Order: sequence, then structure tokens, then C-alpha cells
Amino acid sequence: MKRLILFGAPGSGKGTMGDLIQRDFHFQKISTGDILRNAIQQDSAEGRQAKNFMESGALVPDELVTEMVRQRLSRGDLDGGYVMDGYPRTLPQAEALSLIASGSEKAIFIEVTEAEAVGRLLSRLTCSACGAIYNQMSKPPHKAGICDLCRGRVERRADDNEEAVRQRFRVYAERTMPVIEYYDRKNELLRVDGGGAAVRVYEKIKGLIA
Ligand code: AP5
Repeated sequence: MKRLILFGAPGSGKGTMGDLIQRDFHFQKISTGDILRNAIQQDSAEGRQAKNFMESGALVPDELVTEMVRQRLSRGDLDGGYVMDGYPRTLPQAEALSLIASGSEKAIFIEVTEAEAVGRLLSRLTCSACGAIYNQMSKPPHKAGICDLCRGRVERRADDNEEAVRQRFRVYAERTMPVIEYYDRKNELLRVDGGGAAVRVYEKIKGLIA
């Protein structure tokens, strides 16, 4: 299985699991959140369009995100496989993906309670340079404020505040749950209990991929 899509609520662990899959299976991780945050950092036209949507917890328009994914998929480095983190998250995006990507994929739905996910997001830290994911409680960087991997600055994401997190959950329930049901109806959805320590969740996911 070389084409994976990770689904789950904000804070369910998609990025964390995507990094581990990339490390062990040599799949390319394609995170639309990371692509968009890079665009904002570079102050590109796409980044300027996306910034306000992202900071408030709203979705960036489908056309903008899909065009970024289309460009990423056409780069020619995905023969070894890829894992999508954060795309598709609306029905039009799911339909677009079926046109721009060839072959079948498996979707993994990481299920967690909202309370657990919110707790994780409010203590998450992210490297502003390489996107590495940390957590003040469960996975702090070795040196406070400095990324273990690239020495970049580790900080809170602009949308990891209570108001934006609540909005992200509303958007997830309204726009992304129907996409998860769509993959379930196509028999392409595998479910994983995402509660508990990250290493345990990853063991379960590995069992599904291998
Ligand atoms: P995006 O970056 O995709 O954010 P999200 O979906 O809200 O998901 P998160 O990144 O917040 O959580 P995650 O599930 O990856 O959890 P993580 O592994 O970090 O999108 C951000 C914004 O970009 C959107 O709101 C939207 O505006 C825009 N956007 C992106 N894609 C888009 C699209 N396709 N269409 C339109 N707009 C789009 O883990 C969270 C924390 O928990 C970390 O601290 C981690 O260390 C910790 N953790 C993880 N697993 C465990 C565990 N098992 N136990 C304990 N702690 C854990």
C-alpha cells in the first residue's frame, strides 16, 4: 500500500504519524498545512491569500489548496509512495484528488476524543523552520525553544489558541466528516484508535501499512 491518506480531527496525530511513516517507509509526507504555512512564511501570493483563513481556523479555498497539491504530485518524486496529511478535507477536494492522482489509495482514520485532541493542541509546539512537531507535555524539545532536528525556533502555531481550535473542530465536523464517510462507503477506510501514547498508536498504524 503506497498511497495513504491520514484523516482525523485537529490534534488527532496526523502530522506525528505522517512523520513516522515517512521515516520508516520512506514515503513522502504531503502536508497541506505545512505547504500553506511555508507559503505564508515566504509571503507568496498563495500565502497572503491563505493567512487569514488559517489563523481563524477556517478552510482555505478548495481551488487554492488543490492547485498546490496538483503541483506537489507532479514533482516526480513519489514512486516510493506518499502519505497525505490534511488533504482532502472537503468533498470537492476528494473529487479533485481522484482526478489528479492515479491508482487507488487507503485512508486511515485516527479516532480521538475532542477533549484529548484539544488538550494536545493547546500544548503543541512546532518548529517554525522545518515543521517538526513537539509537545510541552509529552514531547518537549531537548533544549527549550530550539528544534532538535534543525536548530530552528520552536513555538506555538498561530492557530493553536482556544478560539481557532474550536472553529477548526466545527469545520472538521461540517466539511471533513462527510469526506471520511465517502471513503468509508468506498471501502477504503481503516480505523485506528488514536488515544494513548504516540508509539502505541503508531504500532497499530504500522500493522495496517505493512
Ligand atoms: P493542518 O496543519 O492540517 O491542521 P489540522 O488538521 O487542524 O491538524 P493539526 O496539524 O492541528 O493536528 P494533527 O492531527 O496533525 O496532530 P499533530 O500530529 O500535530 O491545517 C491547518 C490549517 O491549514 C487549516 O485549519 C486550514 O486553514 C488550512 N488547511 C490545511 N489543509 C487544508 C485543506 N486541505 N483545505 C483547506 N484548508 C486547509 O499532534 C498534535 C499534538 O499532539 C502534538 O503536540 C503532538 O506531539 C501530540 N501528539 C500526537 N499524537 C499523540 C499521542 N498519541 N499522544 C499524545 N500526544 C500526541
